[in-house]
Amino acid sequence: MRIRAHSLLLLVLFFVAPTWQVKSELFKTCDQSGFCHRNRHFALQVAAQSNYIPKYAVSLFEIDEPRAAITGVVEKSLNDATTVRLPFRVQLLSDNNVRLLIDEEARSNGTVTVKDGKKINTLRYNEAAKWAFRDEPQAGIFSEPVAVASDEKSLRFSYGDGEFTAELQFTPFKLTILHGDSPQIVLNDRNFLNVEHWRAQTPSEPIEGEEPLDNNVSAEETMYDAFTDSFRDCKSDTVPLGPESVALDVSLPGFKHVYGIPEHADDLSLKDTTAGEPYRMFNVDIFEYEIDSRMAMYGSVPFMMAVKPGMAAGVFWVNSADTWVDIKKEAEMKAGDQTAFNLQVSTKTHWISENGVIDVVLSIGKTPTDVSKSYGALTGFVELPQLFALGYHQCRWNYNDEADVLGVSANMDKYQIPYDIIWLDIEYTDSKKYFTWKKELFPDPVGMMRQLDRTGRKLVTIIDPHIKVGYEVSDHLIKNNLAVQSSSADGSAFHGHCWPGESVWVDTLNPATDEYWSTLFANGTQFSGDATNLHIWNDMNEPSVFSGPETTSPKDTVHYGGWEARSIHNLYGMTYHESTFKAMQNRSGGRNRPFILTRSYFAGSQRSAAMWTGDNMSQWEHLKASLPMILTSGVVGMPFSGADVGGFFGNPSKELLTRWYQAGIWYPFFRAHAHIDSRRREPWIAGEPYTSIIRDAVRFRYSLLPMFYTSFYDANTQGVPVMKPMFYETPENPMTYEIEDQFFLGNTGLLIKPITEEGATATEIYLPDEQVYYSYDKYTVFKGEGYHKYGALLEQIPVLLKGGSILARKDRYRRSSALMRYDPYTLVVALDTAGGASGTLYVDDGQSYDYKQSDYIVVNFTATEEGIQAQVENSGLKLPFIASLDSVKIQKIILVGSALAQKAVSVSQSGETWDASVVSAANHVVIKSPGISINKPWNVTF
Ligand SMILES: *[C@@H]1O[C@H](CO)[C@@H](O)[C@H](O)[C@H]1NC(C)=O
Ligand SMILES: *[C@@H]1O[C@H](CO)[C@@H](O)[C@H](O)[C@H]1NC(C)=O
Ligand SMILES: *[C@@H]1O[C@H](CO)[C@@H](O)[C@H](O)[C@H]1NC(C)=O
Ligand SMILES: *[C@@H]1O[C@H](CO)[C@@H](O)[C@H](O)[C@H]1NC(C)=O
Ligand SMILES: *[C@@H]1O[C@H](CO)[C@@H](O)[C@H](O)[C@H]1NC(C)=O
Repeated sequence: MRIRAHSLLLLVLFFVAPTWQVKSELFKTCDQSGFCHRNRHFALQVAAQSNYIPKYAVSLFEIDEPRAAITGVVEKSLNDATTVRLPFRVQLLSDNNVRLLIDEEARSNGTVTVKDGKKINTLRYNEAAKWAFRDEPQAGIFSEPVAVASDEKSLRFSYGDGEFTAELQFTPFKLTILHGDSPQIVLNDRNFLNVEHWRAQTPSEPIEGEEPLDNNVSAEETMYDAFTDSFRDCKSDTVPLGPESVALDVSLPGFKHVYGIPEHADDLSLKDTTAGEPYRMFNVDIFEYEIDSRMAMYGSVPFMMAVKPGMAAGVFWVNSADTWVDIKKEAEMKAGDQTAFNLQVSTKTHWISENGVIDVVLSIGKTPTDVSKSYGALTGFVELPQLFALGYHQCRWNYNDEADVLGVSANMDKYQIPYDIIWLDIEYTDSKKYFTWKKELFPDPVGMMRQLDRTGRKLVTIIDPHIKVGYEVSDHLIKNNLAVQSSSADGSAFHGHCWPGESVWVDTLNPATDEYWSTLFANGTQFSGDATNLHIWNDMNEPSVFSGPETTSPKDTVHYGGWEARSIHNLYGMTYHESTFKAMQNRSGGRNRPFILTRSYFAGSQRSAAMWTGDNMSQWEHLKASLPMILTSGVVGMPFSGADVGGFFGNPSKELLTRWYQAGIWYPFFRAHAHIDSRRREPWIAGEPYTSIIRDAVRFRYSLLPMFYTSFYDANTQGVPVMKPMFYETPENPMTYEIEDQFFLGNTGLLIKPITEEGATATEIYLPDEQVYYSYDKYTVFKGEGYHKYGALLEQIPVLLKGGSILARKDRYRRSSALMRYDPYTLVVALDTAGGASGTLYVDDGQSYDYKQSDYIVVNFTATEEGIQAQVENSGLKLPFIASLDSVKIQKIILVGSALAQKAVSVSQSGETWDASVVSAANHVVIKSPGISINKPWNVTF
């Protein structure tokens, strides 16, 4: 007995004390990364010299007709008085976007040689924009002729109806975006521009009788790890083109706050990195990640937004290589102001990429929304998801077999918790061979999907890019050169280790891959038969390579086009999920919008996938950190994002799990997920009162699906984040610039502050303006800029509704969103201090692309002191879905903050008029059964 008890204790200790800690030694610091080290060194040398003579200047230029671009050559001066020619282009694109491109002549005209004669592409990588931009960008036209300044030292052009000016200074090279006379964005303000030009490797020992190779560098440069990589598992990197980094400083005068450049488990407002590590963008499989960190994670979007009252700016660094960004906040005098009393804080950034061309797009506007719109116009707005995808996703690694899947599904119904999607992680496959099933556990996958389909449920299965060596899929990839190539660049496939053991990686940069990939997902295959409710999860697409350097593929592996992984690394994951997206689109004959979840992403990923924040932990700190991470994702145009509810690693307490659901219902992508070693935690397992509280939270989400969907429509058409940072709502109020624990749901007026503290019974919500706000449940009034106490017992979710908003929701419990399609609406009209309100509702079939043929409605609701009215876009169109909405009614209108005393109101629609009764209650009145159809205009007269 003693022995047994002792071993039990050991066993318990083993399970309760796992060492959750990121293996940071696997990943480079800036100092250990050759090009980051060199550029930080360069910047320090330049900054230290008060009499520094800048090395980059415009030597030649011409203005392309019709005034859409300035092209020319920037020269880089070397110490030996020779120069390196760098062709450049400054171009105005649509939507107030200005683009700068700088290439290297020797690289673009093919005069360079590759170390060891390797057959790789010797151009500087110039296709990041091809993947990131939605289409070939439209050229804008400068609104005034380009003017050469009278001193002949610069060129100026104006745009945005003359409101903005771009000024190109020749010596030193400098590009400034101005609003009036006031600089907003300055490139090369600090002379950190650095294009490491091509040079042959100097032999360490000079060869007798031979001229030394031209290897001249400027005094500010070091050659640290220029031709080698001395870091751990990176030592085998052949670095075939030597040093080739590009770097540029971007100053943002008067902007104290900048946002974006995910993915990092860090604050919403980016930190000063002078004394620490820069923010790194390099897609890696960083398991057990730590929070408050600038370390690289799974995805990268090299887009930064800066905000100050009255102005917002965007910097899009179009580069898919390993990238680091240093940020410095500096107090300085305002331009033209000589009094020390008038200091402003400016943000100065330094962007450093391992290779590629310099390609940077600068956006400018009055508000964050303007800049989001410009960025969206360039890279595409988020794809409008199917409605079900906004429902609740139930996942774990793993649901064991068919009985488990159907059992979980049945329990959700038993406990009356709505859900839409159940997920299968890697264990469903036969030996991790994607597109196969473990037949003992899943004898009839198509039958299982059909069974789920009866209640409108979907199945998501995982399909990763590592393909096990030794079955038909990998055989096909290898035989047809559709796999990523090894670093020998001789066409042989790169082999590495991942879940299945030895694997090859599908090269989705190759357009020929799309066609083959499509056949694997096609209707009628062994894998999926004719199931219509199958959707796909693309994981491990950084790519994760267990045997690789920094958990990913070696940088000198080669992709289609002869491009090294070094050049395309951060966009590989996007090419992979785009390929899956196209395949799934094709599967349904182009009829339905695919749902794809990706872990790795790049600028543009929003067009075809949702993302989640990867392998987080069951800890309060991770719940809290999920909010700024998802808010950041919204700022960079990728609003369809979420974090694993409950935390991936570990076992959440019942309280943490409950609070996580209450926060998770506001994630645009709402999925519970758990590690294979964690205990089961489906919502009914916690027991009462937790299960009921979780159920109520999930039902709350479902009641608001019309508002989530409308928020996605706003994101899809205007770039408004779905989980919207406070500073988008009130950009004129700097108090909101650092708030990351509360947010709005799109433009709905819902203000949410999830509880992320253990044991909390109350919280404080910040109101950013003088508008009236109402508590969501009891319509209690909150008013006045500043913090307000809000009760938050375990069953309470702090939510306020801003006066002036009108919400449309669906209150009936249904098992899934599909079953809610023709349910009636409840309108909540929250009057503002002036007695008015407005709101929007977008409705389409939630599934197909028919909305592109106008088969949708947008309802504009407006309330005044006289009554409420609705205008309906497309109401008159005879289209199938719009017509099917005839039967969908508004069952109730709740007027919040109204003093309406009468017993009835007059309703009119489609030429008919009738009365509806009014009952009053605490802080609100209810117009009962107004009998209004949602798809036609109407009026309620008080
Ligand atoms: C580079 O040029 C400078 C100035 O001409 C010269 O002093 C130096 O020796 C050169 N370095 C190399 C490595 O050729
Ligand atoms: C290619 O570029 C190099 C470096 O700028 C230049 O010296 C050379 O003349 C160019 N060759 C051609 C054919 O344009
Ligand atoms: C779509 O699927 C059809 C039938 O499987 C196939 O012939 C076609 O090539 C596919 N299209 C693409 C773009 O993959
Ligand atoms: C899938 O194939 C079946 C026949 O096997 C057909 O009835 C069905 O319409 C197809 N579905 C789609 C979406 O093409
Ligand atoms: C609804 O409101 C939007 C935004 O104000 C406007 O663009 C649109 O024309 C309105 N639609 C109708 C039918 O009134």
